[in-house]
Amino acid sequence: MLVLGLNASPRIKGNSNYLLSLFLKQAQDRGFETKTVNAATTDYLPCIGCGYCEKNGFCSIKDSLAEDIFHLFRRADLIVLATPVYFYGIPARMKAIIDRSQTLWSRKYKFNINDPKASYRKAILLSTGGSNGHSLFDGIRLTAKYFFDAIGAELAGEICCPGVDERNALKTLVNKNIDGTTKADIERLAENLLNPMNNRKKIMFACRENAGRSQMAAAFASNIAGDRYDILSAGSKPGKIINPVAVAAMAEKGLDIAFNSPSSIEDALKSAGGKVDMMVTMGCGENCPFIPGCKMMEWNLPDPSGQSIENVRRIRDDILKHVEDLL
Ligand SMILES: Cc1cc2nc3c(=O)[nH]c(=O)nc-3n(C[C@H](O)[C@H](O)[C@H](O)COP(=O)(O)O)c2cc1C
Repeated sequence: MLVLGLNASPRIKGNSNYLLSLFLKQAQDRGFETKTVNAATTDYLPCIGCGYCEKNGFCSIKDSLAEDIFHLFRRADLIVLATPVYFYGIPARMKAIIDRSQTLWSRKYKFNINDPKASYRKAILLSTGGSNGHSLFDGIRLTAKYFFDAIGAELAGEICCPGVDERNALKTLVNKNIDGTTKADIERLAENLLNPMNNRKKIMFACRENAGRSQMAAAFASNIAGDRYDILSAGSKPGKIINPVAVAAMAEKGLDIAFNSPSSIEDALKSAGGKVDMMVTMGCGENCPFIPGCKMMEWNLPDPSGQSIENVRRIRDDILKHVEDLL
């Protein structure tokens, strides 16, 4: 389970990052994998408003943003945006990433394809501002809400701290226990959002390349029951990219797996804290893992690699039936 932190501040070790680190520590203590993107260290071009994504579902700008960032959005179970207030808005590097997420907005609202995890993924806003103005966080709140909606996450909580300006202002207040609520607020937020996710049973779908069958099975399972089960997918010999015909076949069912990428069984297990409750294999060959204490099941499904869209549709429908029966 991944908690993804987005640190929007150019002052990388400032107040926003301090808030973020308090929350990520709560996640780590509960066994979650955490990752932080420091927007200030990225140099993605901003959206140029060309409309290409609304017609094609991909961005016209050929950089690595989709592989680096969209991929993480899709993997994350919970996304935390930590941002200072800059002129009542979000700092420019993070705003560039937000605006480029118009591609995901287009896929969702123009192409009607949804991220399978969007059915349960949550998001949190953490923010700090120097003044005590009445509407200090209003602009940030609106941007965050619609950004999260575009990337398939529901804004489920916020902690906004006004009146902190110097680099260590918030940390000093918290350490002196002057702002006694901040830590308690973080702990409460973590408890409310992370504990239910942590209580889910874990199911891993595994095939050889994690490019087709197991990706499709995981997408269906996440979409149907991601709130009840932590769904993972992996391959015994992970391929380099996900099968584009499988992506197209899943899009026909309204599910978007275009930004997923194959993972090894070892990496998936690590992100699951080393333990899964059930493993469904579909032809991962002699490298099918044995995990003690884990319920194993084998599904006999043909490999969609190199197959026509008609054949992949048949495999996809078969997988859906298997998943529905299992769940
Ligand atoms: C370019 C810039 C614009 C800012 N705009 C605002 C503002 O509109 N309102 C405000 O209260 N504070 C403003 N601030 C202050 C920051 O919000 C404040 O210092 C915050 O704690 C910075 O968080 P950080 O340490 O995570 O970067 C601004 C600071 C900078 C550098």
